[in-house]
Amino acid sequence: MNIEQDIKKILITEEEIDKRCRELGKHLSEDYDGLNPVVICLLKGSVVFTGKLITYINVPMELECLRIKSYDGMHSTGHVQIFDFDYNILNKRHVIIVEDIIDTGLTLKEVIKIFKTKSIKSLEVCALLNKKAMNRVDINPKYIGFEIPNEFVVGFGLDYNQQYRNLPYVGVLKEEAINK
Ligand code: IMP
Repeated sequence: MNIEQDIKKILITEEEIDKRCRELGKHLSEDYDGLNPVVICLLKGSVVFTGKLITYINVPMELECLRIKSYDGMHSTGHVQIFDFDYNILNKRHVIIVEDIIDTGLTLKEVIKIFKTKSIKSLEVCALLNKKAMNRVDINPKYIGFEIPNEFVVGFGLDYNQQYRNLPYVGVLKEEAINK
């Protein structure tokens, strides 16, 4: 069975994602030249985006991963769970949080709130996708890949019940795939 048969439409192609990652990588390389930032990949959804993005950053940087959970199926649980993380790594560092998608923004708000209590030098967010119409809190991410409509999307790291992360593009699921 090929997972692509469950996709109703492709919202953002592999080529468009690659081009945008290149642009974001260039932008980050210029902004963080000489600052040796710590790029934080929010697991698991951001792992594919972060993997591609950092190959387009050409200045010294470090990578860390933070495991969080906020969604259950297609719904935000309204509660952000953060798994073990050594915050000492961020001491006096410039931090870039990489997020797959901002929906309500509640997940990021919670993560940012915690990070701001640590002694970091600066904090910015780089998100692949933003569902602007759904934003319930003001996050003001400095780096955004694409603004998208209010549709549940999968692929390029984004899942539906842990599936479809391995699609190379961002797409919308067919109704029957959601209900099966
Ligand atoms: P927020 O807290 O509502 O902004 O939700 C953020 C998290 O929910 C993201 O990191 C994703 O893991 C998940 N999420 C939100 N919208 C989608 C979607 O359309 N597809 C897959 N996951 C989503």
